Amino acid sequence: MKTSGNTVLITGGGTGIGLALAEELVRRDNKVIICGRRRDRLRAAKKRMPQIHVRVCDVSVARSRRALVDWLLSEFRKLNLLINNAGVQRSVDFLRGARDLVHADEEVATNLTAPIHLSALLIPHLRRKEEAAIVNISSGLAFTPLAAVPVYCATKAAVHSLSLCLRHQLRETSVRVFEIVPPVVATRLGGSRRRVDEGGYVMSPEAVAAGVLDALQRNEEEVALGAAAGLRAQREALFSAIND
Ligand SMILES: NC(=O)c1ccc[n+]([C@@H]2O[C@H](COP(=O)([O-])OP(=O)(O)OC[C@H]3O[C@@H](n4cnc5c(N)ncnc54)[C@H](OP(=O)(O)O)[C@@H]3O)[C@@H](O)[C@H]2O)c1
Repeated sequence: MKTSGNTVLITGGGTGIGLALAEELVRRDNKVIICGRRRDRLRAAKKRMPQIHVRVCDVSVARSRRALVDWLLSEFRKLNLLINNAGVQRSVDFLRGARDLVHADEEVATNLTAPIHLSALLIPHLRRKEEAAIVNISSGLAFTPLAAVPVYCATKAAVHSLSLCLRHQLRETSVRVFEIVPPVVATRLGGSRRRVDEGGYVMSPEAVAAGVLDALQRNEEEVALGAAAGLRAQREALFSAIND
């Protein structure tokens, strides 16, 4: 897949990995559109990169997704790359009964329903392009869940499954389906304040963005980055040990 000359939508492009991806894609001469809920974050990104296009959109809401897609299809006919990156992560303690679940539906809608619907809404358009792709940002937690964020882990495991199915269904088309599996990344996801560590356990968003572009360039459809690669390999070894 080419890494320049694309027209790209990045959901959740105002901060973190999405913003780093926008910067890298702009550097490589792609037309970049980012969306998110916070107007101030989108404005700040536009100030840094005046050439990008920004759109306030809550991808967890069907009407907002539909409006985004209608706008994209009328303004950006060359759109050929969808990056499903927007995500939220919440702590849920089931010992508290349903008390922590007030935002659970929104978490599922953002992390899982949005990639499902945005992919479905855009595939008829993407299929008409000579070269096109859907990139899903999943997580190492899709494969080795962290019990404190159970809904998040379940959505990311589902994004992995979705990516496999989409890739299979689209195998005879021009649309490639990539899944990028980041490890812990130094962003504000879930309100955290992680820093990149020397041991390579916590990656920078810029390193993840470089990993995404590398995967596209090499046509490597499922790529686990940093410590997530180790987690995946261990899980596969365990699966073989149990089942072979
Ligand atoms: N950080 C990690 O350790 C890590 C590890 C593995 C995978 N990931 C994945 O990487 C992706 C990016 O996360 P990040 O780490 O870069 O965190 P982040 O900086 O918090 O980025 C998440 C982005 O998603 C946007 N977003 C959230 N809900 C949205 C909604 N309903 N509609 C539209 N945009 C929405 C946020 O903007 P608004 O709040 O303005 O809407 C924000 O820009 C996520 O899918 C996450 O699960 C992160």
